[in-house]
Amino acid sequence: MRIDVVTIFPDYLAPLELSLAGKAREKGLIDVRVHDLRQWTHDRHRTVDDTPYGGGAGMVMRPEPWGEAFDALGIEGATVVFTTPSGQPFTQAVARELATRDRIVFACGRYEGIDQRVLDDVATRAEVREISLGDYVLNGGEVAALAITEAVVRLVPGFMGNAESLLEESHTLSDSGARLLEYPVYTKPATWRGHDVPPVLLSGDHAAIASWRHDQAVRRTAERRPDLVHPSVLLDDVEIRPVR
Ligand code: ADE
Repeated sequence: MRIDVVTIFPDYLAPLELSLAGKAREKGLIDVRVHDLRQWTHDRHRTVDDTPYGGGAGMVMRPEPWGEAFDALGIEGATVVFTTPSGQPFTQAVARELATRDRIVFACGRYEGIDQRVLDDVATRAEVREISLGDYVLNGGEVAALAITEAVVRLVPGFMGNAESLLEESHTLSDSGARLLEYPVYTKPATWRGHDVPPVLLSGDHAAIASWRHDQAVRRTAERRPDLVHPSVLLDDVEIRPVR
C-alpha cells in the first residue's frame, strides 16, 4: 500500500514516516510519503488560503496548490481522503474498507476547509472520501490522517505479527454478530496490592473463560456504549446506565 499525505505541516506527520514506514518498509508492505502543500505555491509568501466568497469568518484553502499537488502525485485510481469534521465518521468498518486499497492520498485541510471545486475535480479521476475523526473540531486534518493511517495500516495483511489479536479486539464483530468493546484483561501476578485476578481465568476451563469474557464485554458495552449493543445480546441483569 502506498500512502501520501499532503499538508502545510509536514513535521506533524514526520513520525509516521519514521516509525510506521520503518517497520512496514522492512516487510515491504507500506510506503508512506509526506508532502508540503506549499511546494505547489508560486508566490513569495507561499500562500495557500484566501477569504471566502460570500463572506463569513475565517479563510478557505485555495484550489490551485491542491490541484497541482494531485497532478504531481498522480491520483488516478487512488482513494483520496479529505479529513474534515463534516465527513463520514471514522469507524473500524471504514478502517477495514480502506485497508483493501492499494493507494491512499490524505489531503489535510486547515482553516475553514478546502475550496469545494478541489473535491469535485478529484472525484472525476479518483475515489473521494470525506472522513471525520469524531464529533469535535481539531485545528486541522493532520491528527485525523495520523489516526486513520495507524488504524488502517495495522489491518493490512502481514503487518501485525499476531493476526489473532486483530480478531478479538474492540469494535470487531463477535460470533453473535454484536459489536462489542473488549473484555478486561489480566496478567501475572495473580494477586497484586490485594486485588485478585478473577478466579475463572485461572481455572483452565476454556468454555467458562470464553463465556465470562463475552459476559464482561456485553456489560462494558452496555454501560459505556449503549448505542453499540444489539438487544439480542443484552443480559437480563445488565442495567443500561450510560457513563457521564
Ligand atoms: N479537521 C478538523 N477537525 C476534524 C475532525 N474532527 N476530523 C477530521 N478532520 C478534522
